[in-house]
Amino acid sequence: MKLSLSTLLRWLLSFGIALAFQDDLLKKCSQSGFCHRNRQYAKNIQESRNSHYSLDQGSLEFDTNNHTIQGFIIKSIKANQKDIKIPLPFTLDLFDGDKVRFRLDEHRSIKLGKAGINLQRYNETEHWAFDPDYIPIRQEVIAKSPTFWNKKDFTFTADRFTVTLSSQDFQINVKYDSADVLTVNSDNMLNFEHYRTLEENFENINEEEEPFNMFKDSFADSKSDSIPLGPESVALDFKFHGISNLYGIAEHADSLRLRDTSNIDPYRLYNVDVFQYKLNSTLPMYGSIPFVVGIKESLSIGLFWMNPSDTWIDIQYGHSDSSTHWMSESGIIDFIVIVQETPKLVTESYVNITGKPMLPLLSSVGYHQCRWNYNDEKDVLTVDSLMDKWQIPYDFLWLDLEYTDQKQYFTWKPDAFPNPTRMLSKLAFLGRNLVTLIDPHIKSNYHISEAIIAAKVYVRNALNKPFFGQCWPGESIWIDTFNPLASKLWSKFVQTFISTPSNLYIWNDMNEPSIFDGPETTAPKDLLHYNGFEERSVHNLYGLTVHQATYDSFVDMNPNKRPFVLTRSFFSGSQRTAATWTGDNVANWEYLQLSIPMVLSHNIVGMPATGADIAGFFGNPDDELLIRWYQAGIWYPFFRAHAHIDTRRREPFLLNERTRSVVTEFIRLRYQLLPTLYTAFHDSHSRGIPIMNPMIYEHPNVANFYDIDDQFYLGEQGILVKPVTSANTKSIPITFPSGVFYDLQNLEIAHFGTLETKTVSAPLEKLPAYIAGGHIITRKDQYRRSSRLMQNDPYTLVIAPTAYGTAKGRLYVDDGETFAYKQGKLLEVELEYNKNVIYGTVLHKDTSSFFNDISIEKIVIAHHPDGKVAETCTLELDDIRTNIEVIHEDHSHVIKNPGIQIGQDWKIIL
Ligand code: GLC
Repeated sequence: MKLSLSTLLRWLLSFGIALAFQDDLLKKCSQSGFCHRNRQYAKNIQESRNSHYSLDQGSLEFDTNNHTIQGFIIKSIKANQKDIKIPLPFTLDLFDGDKVRFRLDEHRSIKLGKAGINLQRYNETEHWAFDPDYIPIRQEVIAKSPTFWNKKDFTFTADRFTVTLSSQDFQINVKYDSADVLTVNSDNMLNFEHYRTLEENFENINEEEEPFNMFKDSFADSKSDSIPLGPESVALDFKFHGISNLYGIAEHADSLRLRDTSNIDPYRLYNVDVFQYKLNSTLPMYGSIPFVVGIKESLSIGLFWMNPSDTWIDIQYGHSDSSTHWMSESGIIDFIVIVQETPKLVTESYVNITGKPMLPLLSSVGYHQCRWNYNDEKDVLTVDSLMDKWQIPYDFLWLDLEYTDQKQYFTWKPDAFPNPTRMLSKLAFLGRNLVTLIDPHIKSNYHISEAIIAAKVYVRNALNKPFFGQCWPGESIWIDTFNPLASKLWSKFVQTFISTPSNLYIWNDMNEPSIFDGPETTAPKDLLHYNGFEERSVHNLYGLTVHQATYDSFVDMNPNKRPFVLTRSFFSGSQRTAATWTGDNVANWEYLQLSIPMVLSHNIVGMPATGADIAGFFGNPDDELLIRWYQAGIWYPFFRAHAHIDTRRREPFLLNERTRSVVTEFIRLRYQLLPTLYTAFHDSHSRGIPIMNPMIYEHPNVANFYDIDDQFYLGEQGILVKPVTSANTKSIPITFPSGVFYDLQNLEIAHFGTLETKTVSAPLEKLPAYIAGGHIITRKDQYRRSSRLMQNDPYTLVIAPTAYGTAKGRLYVDDGETFAYKQGKLLEVELEYNKNVIYGTVLHKDTSSFFNDISIEKIVIAHHPDGKVAETCTLELDDIRTNIEVIHEDHSHVIKNPGIQIGQDWKIIL
């Protein structure tokens, strides 16, 4: 085994010795052959003002239905007295009324090369990234005369789009309602490294190109990369007109608004294992979503660069425009531009293609208690009962690596877990669930790895033999879940393991994949996958193929039950089947602070079910940090406490009395708000609405919010939160938008007026959180041990009126467990408050569902600046009028037990 730095650090980690991740495990752009070449090319081509790409005008044609424009772009090379022309086929589509897609490929004659390598460029990303049910709405594209076919610019229109292809210096200009929104190849950075052999190489390079590391890799840990197909990178630039704020391209430990990278390394998307990762950096992390959102007043643009190979992105903010330069190591150019009025609509449109975020198990919206490790059955059941003893609700308990028999996944350590079924049924008694870790590396000489070898569904090395590498179990192989047969086999393993109990779920970790003795902590790029595609071309998709196979195993076994799968690695489309988290963070204030923009960023790229390990994976948080982290963490869509094996135990019941009581109070607040949170999850599932929702997504016209990423909303529910993320804080500034804002806890008015930054009090017990006037939220106030036990509990409605005395809310309810909601077994209620009248209106109801009959126990109306409310009110229900007392409290009016069921239409006149 080669002992690289990464191996050493990871091994030490497994013995409980945590050393910080070393940045030099990862390449810098200058050390990455294709990044270096493309940055250099971009610089040189702008100086030379040459252009080596042009449109072959005679090749342009429509498909039979006038939906797609096809043709060739010609790459010209003038070198060594030769004049080479490479035709690159492209297609251009306009569809759905808001999207333009462009694909550029290369004809390569032979399909399979030496050792079974596939010589084609990988073009199957959409198979994984797209929602299998997505069908684009094709639009008839009209070629605009009289310029068509005879001038150098070709203009096509469809709906509100006008797209112009200019031929000499190949460019695509996109206009929306006749305003320029985006120009493709505006700075001439298009670079398509076509196929050539080492011998022919120098005849294939234009003067702006630098041949750095085209056929070799000089980076210390990847010198053995055979680069069998030579340079293959693709690169292109995009100018966003009138936009100087870009967001997205998760995952990075950085601010929400992307930074200008002119003087630093580009943002990199390359799934790697970055334990104790560096903060405020453009370094790659565990997952990659190559989707950027540009926001300006009244218009937003999404750009989805659909390429799963190692990708770097330079961002440059100009005076009023911004430019992005995308560089990918291989594959085709395939991008989709989305133009919409608001950023929320851009995200919605993006998840229409890549799939709606799953509607999770309601229980998984509760609290998850995890640590590396709970040691045995007794440990598990003790944690379980101590949570109850201290009345701390929770729904999921987790078992990390050590529950296995010698790190052989799909087994239980026999002495520690002699009877998993017994343990699971004890947890199930209170509606609780267990998650076990199952990684895609499988120990050598174990019947599961032998079955994978026998079925020939392993990841192969460059010589087409099984690849062996080092991970937790020592020498391991990796299952190649790109192969449908591998997924089938995986299903067999998963189904045998989860067999009878239905409260056992799976966590797929280390699926970047993490390989201790691999370059940059991951797989060598010349490994081979299904159909002979190199790891180089499909790398960022691997994690998705693994968690997708796990999800499918559950659904295949129990088609009506929603699975729960956590994945560390992800790509566009992962949101359909898995939750994720921000990986191995550290128990300090900087990581808490950065967890907010990181989770926000996941939310806008359609992957909302995310959280950060509370209260830091490495290290021991002090009480203050712990409290502040729980106060922030209850707003992460995925709310899990987790800790490294070497840390002190810190389950909430172990904390000192004061800390425990504050932490418990906030965990309970999460549970109180479950109806509101679940409605937010449903909004995300149906319309892609971020669950942890950036200020700029709610107020795209307010420039003050472009840079604010330390406060946010809960979905569209009107709850505004500003967590405290620094030590010794007694008060903090928060920027309120214009309107009325009420304190979430006591409904006191905290702000009334125009946009303003105010300092609010935030002692340790207090989390600054507010309800915006105009919203109605729903709660379940009774403490229960788990979400299942809250099922029949009554609702409290909290009305936060605007200054004009109006408010609206929506509640979504279903069984929280099955796919029956797809058949309409759900309840949707609209709540409205208008000038002292409250309305409950059922929008959708399935009459057979138990949740229709749950009662409303309390209606709380915040005192609004202008409001006056009488001593009694009148309820109108089923044509009967009843008088009910209104209790006046300091900051609210309260109606108790009005005798209404949530699934009824009603009206209360105050
Ligand atoms: C990785 C995971 C971490 C887990 C550990 C052991 O470091 O990111 O969450 O506890 O592996 O399985």
